[in-house]
Amino acid sequence: MAWNLAFMYQFYIFTGANFIAMSVHKSDIKKVTTHQLQAMKDRGEKISMLTAYDYSMASLIDGAGVDIILVGDSASNVMAGHETTLPITLDQMIYHASSVIRAVNRAFVVVDIPFGSYQGNSSEALRSAIRIMKESGAHSVKMEGGAEIKESIVRVLSAGVPVMGHLGLTPQSIYKFGTYTVRAKEEEEANKLIEDAKILEECGVYAIVLEKIPAELAKKVSETVKIPIIGIGAGPHVDGQVLVMHDMLGITKEFKPRFLRQYADVGAIINEAVSKYIQDVKSRDFPNEKESY
Ligand code: KIV
Repeated sequence: MAWNLAFMYQFYIFTGANFIAMSVHKSDIKKVTTHQLQAMKDRGEKISMLTAYDYSMASLIDGAGVDIILVGDSASNVMAGHETTLPITLDQMIYHASSVIRAVNRAFVVVDIPFGSYQGNSSEALRSAIRIMKESGAHSVKMEGGAEIKESIVRVLSAGVPVMGHLGLTPQSIYKFGTYTVRAKEEEEANKLIEDAKILEECGVYAIVLEKIPAELAKKVSETVKIPIIGIGAGPHVDGQVLVMHDMLGITKEFKPRFLRQYADVGAIINEAVSKYIQDVKSRDFPNEKESY
């Protein structure tokens, strides 16, 4: 059925059929929803999630079939070159998110509410979430923290905005932690994390990211709550995995934590291509006659 609908959509494009027919069938194309993410956990299918911050990359990873695209505040690091995620603003996140949304046909798009845009109180959280949803067209927001931001999460959810939680190493609190080392190794912090996960589930969040915690603890959380748990540096026993795209493609060079698997060396490919281009320009090989008017 899904194949037929996808085929009909392509057929209408290729035959140049009128726009009304196209838009009717486009809405039938299978899109990832929170319900499908829950169904994936229920049937034991792992969820794939990657970050993206711009139109071109989002188009590539959506086309490859990733389930969730995170417009992460890691844009502060990999796009803007800041040391932490703290400086990125709500306006900048909305700019990145709207670029991503224009590229996406299938993936579920979640956007980080940046530091300083929800910690004040629940009204501020709601205002920020609504701006992200309204101005970017995103499908959901992500917020870092547990019990301490419960009121804000409830307020955002009450406006009909799906919320993804984020526990463990929460980079917006990096100056409180002091380091990027593994979190919740001690019993007290591990117990709080499990309690926080339960609180988030009770509030109604549809999924939780667990960052850089022991694999056994992540397994316990995933078995304790019914909602999907997406891990980054949280081992294999969770319901899905997320990586920062620039890290897994080998674009960022200096960041090599143990949990990172690098799937390509795009940095080297770009370096080689640019070096060749420079050489061709300097040697007057580019442009040649065929490349000129
Ligand atoms: O901002 C981000 O990229 C994230 C991931 C590390 C989960 O929050």
